Amino acid sequence: MTSVNLLIQAAPASSCDPALAQGPWDFDTVPGYGPGSSEHDVAPPTAPRQGALPASYREASDDELHARIVAARETLGSRVVVLGHFYQRDEIVQHADFLGDSFQLANAAQTVPDAEAIVFCGVHFMAETADVLAKPGQAVILPNLAAGCSMADMADIDSVEEAWAQLESVYGTEPDADGRVPVIPVTYMNSAADLKAFCGRHGGIVCTSSNAETVLEWAFERGQRVLFFPDQHLGRNTAKKLGVPLEQMPMWNPRKPLGGSSEQELQDARVILWHGFCSVHKRFTVDQIDQARATYPGVRVIVHPECPAPVVDAADEAGSTDYIRKAVAAATEPTTFAVGTEINMVNRLAAEHPQHTIFCLDPVVCPCSTMYRIHPGYLAWVLEELVAGRVVNQVTVPADVAADAKVALERMLAAKPKVRA
Ligand code: 13P
Ligand code: SF4
Repeated sequence: MTSVNLLIQAAPASSCDPALAQGPWDFDTVPGYGPGSSEHDVAPPTAPRQGALPASYREASDDELHARIVAARETLGSRVVVLGHFYQRDEIVQHADFLGDSFQLANAAQTVPDAEAIVFCGVHFMAETADVLAKPGQAVILPNLAAGCSMADMADIDSVEEAWAQLESVYGTEPDADGRVPVIPVTYMNSAADLKAFCGRHGGIVCTSSNAETVLEWAFERGQRVLFFPDQHLGRNTAKKLGVPLEQMPMWNPRKPLGGSSEQELQDARVILWHGFCSVHKRFTVDQIDQARATYPGVRVIVHPECPAPVVDAADEAGSTDYIRKAVAAATEPTTFAVGTEINMVNRLAAEHPQHTIFCLDPVVCPCSTMYRIHPGYLAWVLEELVAGRVVNQVTVPADVAADAKVALERMLAAKPKVRA
């Protein structure tokens, strides 16, 4: 399998930044998300930073790091469980006990009550979620603390509290004749734990890209409207699928009074969309889809719902990372797939299904800047520290925040799709 890093080393001109071929530790001392899709997003000053990785990991060869990870895992046995998101590089994925999307990994974290440590090869909000759902005493470890998510960072608790206060001043707090409150907060899994806690406290819920429709239906049963954060695209694509007209989905810009809408627009709104986006999925365009269709007649275009609505509309299908994986696996005839999601996952699908032609819609190799921060050097380091009896890079959600966040997460885990006639 050709890893994305090897691809970039071999052909730096086809990547969005040749610095991606370097070890991510080169960026640990530099503020910001580092090379890759989120390079130009502004990281908040509070974004966690990673301290220096010891030289013995930075200077080790790929083979040495692999051997050290395998040896540490053998020593630790079932005391440690490694979870890996689909967007992780292959050199990490091969060590994962569970590989999945953010929903599956949140569930997986609950199925290992005997493990002392859960090493989460993903990004910060996923590790926080695992900590909220883990058993007391289990340590959740993020191998590189700089592996945040630029989209998750686009909504913070102060701005959401402020938005909520303004919405209450417009709507009041009284339910309508059907008992539905004026507005229900829905946060995407890609958000900080304190935003999930906010939803827990205010009758709201969490969603992932694999259950966003079910969750929005849940919210519309209980509320007249939804405040959806931080991803405007997932919110818009999902609400559109449920029949909500675009005119009833104003955007909430936290820097403007009433988010930039009039009182009347907010009264008419069904879904208020936070002004957030994913810089990986923003790269996909309708032009790329047209190009793929012109070059490969009959191509099946599948994109992630974090892509802008025109891209989702132009694609044949849209779904979560697990949806994309299953769609490819279920194709019985050799098929050409153009996929609009993170490059590590697309390359892995291509390698696993040689009977199909599978390529990324974006011709430029530009991985998620923060998923890229998890390198085998960090995985070897956190595991060898555990062998030595030390827990490093633990992600801990304060107990009061965790209790409220758990309420919103459990509502999501319990939400069931509507049975349609
Ligand atoms: P999934 O929920 O599909 O795993 O997506 C997570 C993510 O970060 C997509 O950008
Ligand atoms: Fe965040 Fe986008 Fe990376 Fe997913 S792909 S972790 S949403 S920046």
